[in-house]
Amino acid sequence: MTDTPLSELLGLALEAGRRAGALLRDGRPDDLTVAKTKTSAVDVVTEMDIAAEKLITGFLSEHRPQDGFLGEEGAASPGTSGIRWVVDPLDGTVNYLYGLPTWAVSIAAERDGETVVGVVEVPLRGETFHAVLGGGAWLGERRLAVRPSPALDEALVATGFGYLRDRRAHQAEIVRQLLPRVRDIRRGGSAAIDLCDVAAGRADAYYERGLNPWDLAAGDLVAREAGALTGGRPGEPASGELALAASPGLFGVLQEFLEDSGAWHDGQRA
Ligand code: IPD
Ligand code: CA
Ligand code: CA
Ligand code: CA
Repeated sequence: MTDTPLSELLGLALEAGRRAGALLRDGRPDDLTVAKTKTSAVDVVTEMDIAAEKLITGFLSEHRPQDGFLGEEGAASPGTSGIRWVVDPLDGTVNYLYGLPTWAVSIAAERDGETVVGVVEVPLRGETFHAVLGGGAWLGERRLAVRPSPALDEALVATGFGYLRDRRAHQAEIVRQLLPRVRDIRRGGSAAIDLCDVAAGRADAYYERGLNPWDLAAGDLVAREAGALTGGRPGEPASGELALAASPGLFGVLQEFLEDSGAWHDGQRA
């Protein structure tokens, strides 16, 4: 158990997020193209994803050389301090590629495996979300709280679609069943922002299949600290199979709906 003050980790995460956000905002080439694809042809990476991760890991390891890393673009080291940084340098790459504004830098610190700090920097909204375990969720100076729980048919539900093409039909099947039952559905294109939007009362719930730890780590803490319940399938923590965040009175209803949708019986995970 490390005794690093969480305020130190928060300060570093905020500064790393600010710097990476500025790099991505100011350094985006007009002729930005796809540098490579990963798990499928729709899972794209640009040179800016890689540059932003390099900036973040370089900055953090300069200040805290003993810490570990898990980053989407390849950072992976256990470290020796008990602190590990979980980094999505650019969450919402497809939006970024097309010049759409909904993308973020997501940085979380785990202490002995538990997320204790989360920062989500959203440069083109001029917004920085942060949370420290037990210290509430904040948008700048404003403390966040989820909306009062609506009935399912009055809920605005955000979602996203994982990149594996052969699983997208199952994700579409869930949407087909859910859309007639809710106020509306949003697909913003950044999991970290979706989770912060639940925290800020801009959506009542968010769910997605196929996420990775770096998509979730910071935003999940922000959502929880704003009073959301988060998790996965009944009795399970959030995972690649299902990540769900909702105001407390809606969480169980939506979890049950997703469970009953039948779209789980696809014989494969995520
Ligand atoms: C993606 C975004 C998107 C979600 C995908 C993620 P990336 O992250 O969060 O909203 O639907 O599942 O992989 O690749 O842009 O960092
Ligand atoms: Ca990606
Ligand atoms: Ca992501
Ligand atoms: Ca990313």
